[in-house]
Amino acid sequence: MRRTKNDRPRLAVFCSGHGTNLQALIHAARRGRLRARIALVVSDQPRAYALTRARRYGIPTVVVPRAESPTRAAFERTIRYTLAAHRIRYIALAGFMRILSPAFVRAYRGRILNIHPALLPAFPGAHAVRDTLRAGAKVTGVTVHVVDAGVDTGPIILQETLPIRRGETESALLQRIHRLEHRLYPQALHYLVTGRLRLRGRRVIMR
Ligand code: GRF
Repeated sequence: MRRTKNDRPRLAVFCSGHGTNLQALIHAARRGRLRARIALVVSDQPRAYALTRARRYGIPTVVVPRAESPTRAAFERTIRYTLAAHRIRYIALAGFMRILSPAFVRAYRGRILNIHPALLPAFPGAHAVRDTLRAGAKVTGVTVHVVDAGVDTGPIILQETLPIRRGETESALLQRIHRLEHRLYPQALHYLVTGRLRLRGRRVIMR
């Protein structure tokens, strides 16, 4: 039987901000370079531009502001309930500014990816590009990794480097990093949803 777009593995993208990576994933899914259905966009920020992008393509969105839940557990319960209702199998974090609890990560073990604008394990955290420039690094890059219970510590799937130009500003570098991200993230997610990734301890084996 022919598989249609509706049979594709269901992916949720979590965003807090601008959503340029979401946009790249939407394009890749529409062109078949990412064989997943982006079935839900989750945001903790009601004003995230990512939500506008999703709605433009008719993708269901859900906003779960952290401040409206008494605890992180309650916040995550709401999200998990929504993911279950939308039959989500995979999660892509794309600029989601919340740290998921170990319990949440366990529930989706090996099925949550994150993209980070530096060469992990160097420069983890929310200010990776600034930290990289401040350290005087000559090379940076992009990392896509499996999410584990730590912050930016999970097994690495793909990395690519970018040389830093002399005198380059944070925003100029960020733009080049974004271009690289928009190519790498769909690729890594495609490997995941087509079952081509195996985890062996900390190592990711690609078939
Ligand atoms: C990206 O640079 C990503 O590496 C980081 O957050 C940023 C999100 O950008 N995790 P956007 O919202 O996809 O434009």
